[in-house]
Amino acid sequence: MSEATFSHVPVMLSEVIGLLALRDGGRYLDGTFGGGGYAEAILRAGSCTLWAIDRDPDAIARGASLAARYPGLHLIHGQFGNMLELLVERGATELDGVVLDLGVSSFQLDQVERGFSFRSDGPLDMRMERSGTTAAYLVNTLPERELADTLFQLGEERASRRIARAIVRARALGPIRTTAQLAEIIRGTLPFDRSGIDPATRSFQALRIRVNDELGEIERGLVQASALLAPGGRLVVVSFHSLEDRLVKRFMTDATGHAPAPSRHDPRGLAAREAPRFRLLTARPLRPGAAEIAANPRSRSARLRALERLAVPS
Ligand SMILES: C[S@@+](CC[C@H](N)C(=O)[O-])C[C@H]1O[C@@H](n2cnc3c(N)ncnc32)[C@H](O)[C@@H]1O
Repeated sequence: MSEATFSHVPVMLSEVIGLLALRDGGRYLDGTFGGGGYAEAILRAGSCTLWAIDRDPDAIARGASLAARYPGLHLIHGQFGNMLELLVERGATELDGVVLDLGVSSFQLDQVERGFSFRSDGPLDMRMERSGTTAAYLVNTLPERELADTLFQLGEERASRRIARAIVRARALGPIRTTAQLAEIIRGTLPFDRSGIDPATRSFQALRIRVNDELGEIERGLVQASALLAPGGRLVVVSFHSLEDRLVKRFMTDATGHAPAPSRHDPRGLAAREAPRFRLLTARPLRPGAAEIAANPRSRSARLRALERLAVPS
C-alpha cells in the first residue's frame, strides 16, 4: 500500500480546539504533528504562529504541503521532550497554547514496515525516529528478567514472566525478526481470552514505549510545556492508555494545587504550600462520544486533560 492511501483521523478535534481557546495573533505549539490534523484546524481558526514538532521524519516531510499553504506553520523535526530548547532557539519563549496527542499515528501503525502492529507481518522495529535501538534488538538481547520487567511495567502484562521465558526459548533457536514471529510466540503462551483483545497487545505496547522512551518524553514534555506557557496559556493533552494518563493526571493535579494536603502528622504539612500557578480546565478527563468512537474506533481509549496558566497565582 502506498503512503498516499493512509490517513490519520484526528481524535477529539473539536474538544481540543475548543479548549485551546485560540485567538488571532496567538503563538501555539503542536508537540505531536502526526498527520497535521490538529495543526490544520489551529491554522484555519485564525492568523496565528504554530510551531509543530514530530520525531518521525516521515511526518515532517508530509507536513511540507501544509507549511506551503500556511506561512505561520514552522515544522521542527525533534522530540517534544526537548521543546524548550527547540523553541527558545527559534525565539519562542512564551506560548498561548500547547497540545500533545500522545502515542503513534495511524500512518505509523498502518505502515507494515514500521513494525508497530501485531496485526501484520513487518520487521520488528517500532522506532518513531527511524534511528536508535529497535524492538528486535531488545527482544533478542535483553536478559529474561529485564524483558519480563519491561512487559510488566510498561505493558501491565500479568503473564510477563511466562512470555519472557517463551521469548528466550524461541530466540535460542534463531533471532526473532518480525512482528508476526513475536505475536505468535506470545499467542502460543497466552491464549485469547473472552475479552477478544489480542494477547500480543500489552507486550507490543511495552516494547514500543521502551524503544521510544515514551514515558520519559511525557515527563519532560509536560514540565517544559508548562514553563513555556504565557499567563492565560493552555496545555491540552490527549492520552491513550493508563500509563500515559496517570502521568498527565499526576502532573496536572500537582501543578494546579489539587494534590491532597499532606497529613498534619507529616512535618511537610507544616510548611506553607506554594500557590498554584495553573488552573485545571477538566475536573475529570473528557472522553470521545459514542459517535466518534463508532466512526473512529482508534479513539475509544482517548482521555483529554487540560490546564491554564494563571495570570497571577491564586
Ligand atoms: C497520535 S499522532 C498525532 C496526530 C495529530 N494530532 C493529528 O491530528 O494528525 C502522534 C504523533 O506524535 C509523534 N510523537 C510521539 N512522541 C513524540 C515525541 N516524544 N516527540 C515528538 N513527536 C512525537 C509521533 O511520531 C506521531 O506522529
